[in-house]
Amino acid sequence: MFRNKQIVLGVSGGIAVYKAVELLRLLVKAGADVHVVMTRNACEFVAPLTFQTLSGNPVHTEMFNLIQEQDIGHISLADRADLVLVAPATANVIGKAANGLADDLLTTTLLATKAPVLFAPAMNVNMWENPLYRENQAKLERYGYYFMTPAVGALACGWEGQGKLPDPADIFDYAQTLVRAERDMAGKTVLVTAGPTREELDPVRFLSNHSSGKMGYAIARAARNRGANVILVSGPVQLTPPQAVEFVGVTTAMEMHDAVLSRAASADVIIKAAAVADFRPAERNGQKVKKGGEEQAVLSLQRNPDILAELGRLKGQQLLVGFAAETDDLLANAGKKLETKNLDLIVANDVSQPGSGFDGDTNAVQLLYRDGQREELPLMSKDEVAWALLDRIVRQQQ
Ligand code: CTP
Repeated sequence: MFRNKQIVLGVSGGIAVYKAVELLRLLVKAGADVHVVMTRNACEFVAPLTFQTLSGNPVHTEMFNLIQEQDIGHISLADRADLVLVAPATANVIGKAANGLADDLLTTTLLATKAPVLFAPAMNVNMWENPLYRENQAKLERYGYYFMTPAVGALACGWEGQGKLPDPADIFDYAQTLVRAERDMAGKTVLVTAGPTREELDPVRFLSNHSSGKMGYAIARAARNRGANVILVSGPVQLTPPQAVEFVGVTTAMEMHDAVLSRAASADVIIKAAAVADFRPAERNGQKVKKGGEEQAVLSLQRNPDILAELGRLKGQQLLVGFAAETDDLLANAGKKLETKNLDLIVANDVSQPGSGFDGDTNAVQLLYRDGQREELPLMSKDEVAWALLDRIVRQQQ
């Protein structure tokens, strides 16, 4: 997988630096040509000589080393990379990258490269949870940078919690997906729906659901990074639309219906990750409804169109992918939707399981195919689920 691939491995300072040695070993074993860039702090934990010996390449630590500059230079390092991996990535390096700072060789490389960048963060749990850190990560994600989720456990600082560097084998796995991508969806148009819909009762009240939009946004970002032309139709969510996609914001199921149906014909792939409200209030009051003396009230609801089923009826060559969020009888329910809505693939997830809820960053899904095949994916980040799903879609279209 990594043969003829140039990987820049950025190593920033933290106790987990020793695990980057293991990651380097895995990359080299898989055939990668790895160029290690260490921050000054990283060198305090493990000597550059270790990385140099294992990579077979000089380790870069200084921005202005003339001998190295002639040979490589930080810009050429950034240019030649097929992938830049930062492991461990400290809160400091992530913060600098998020703000476009470039005050050492690693951050300069990060700013100068056009290759995909994967951060494997490692830090104290309180830093990980700090809203300033969260904002920095979210900003980078919006611009297409990839992040792994740190592992949970006893941290070197004495705290217990999230912040451990992910296992080197897992980082290696994710890196493999990113390197392999090579814009294999170039020329395809992918229409993705995401988030909930909101059905208003009156100007202040609405019916909706817990969908966060994270899964659909992850799919939109991944498809864009694989070269696809992406249309993202999204209900109201707390996420910023990804760069370089055609973004269509909607509120109600009817608006989503119109936005999707008017664009469906141009799409090669349609992925319906949105949690569409099945019903809307039969009447929307122009004024806020006042309560009277009643103890019970009855709400009359009108059925919304099933957008996916309608797409299934119109379907020609395009690949149609649905989602089924269930709390019971997962496979039976999802299988039924696959068939009745005429889908090629349905992504089934049991939202009652830990790690698979609406607002989390992870998901454990099963894929059900038209021909009756079934595939169970392990618990992964929503970004990883998105990549895995697109892998299957690309394969189906070959
Ligand atoms: N969907 C849709 N339009 C609707 C309802 C659902 O396009 N009005 C799509 C969703 O985007 C999702 C799939 O259908 O991809 C499954 O949605 P879900 O709500 O789980 O299933 P329903 O068909 O609504 O069945 P039920 O509510 O009975 O579970």
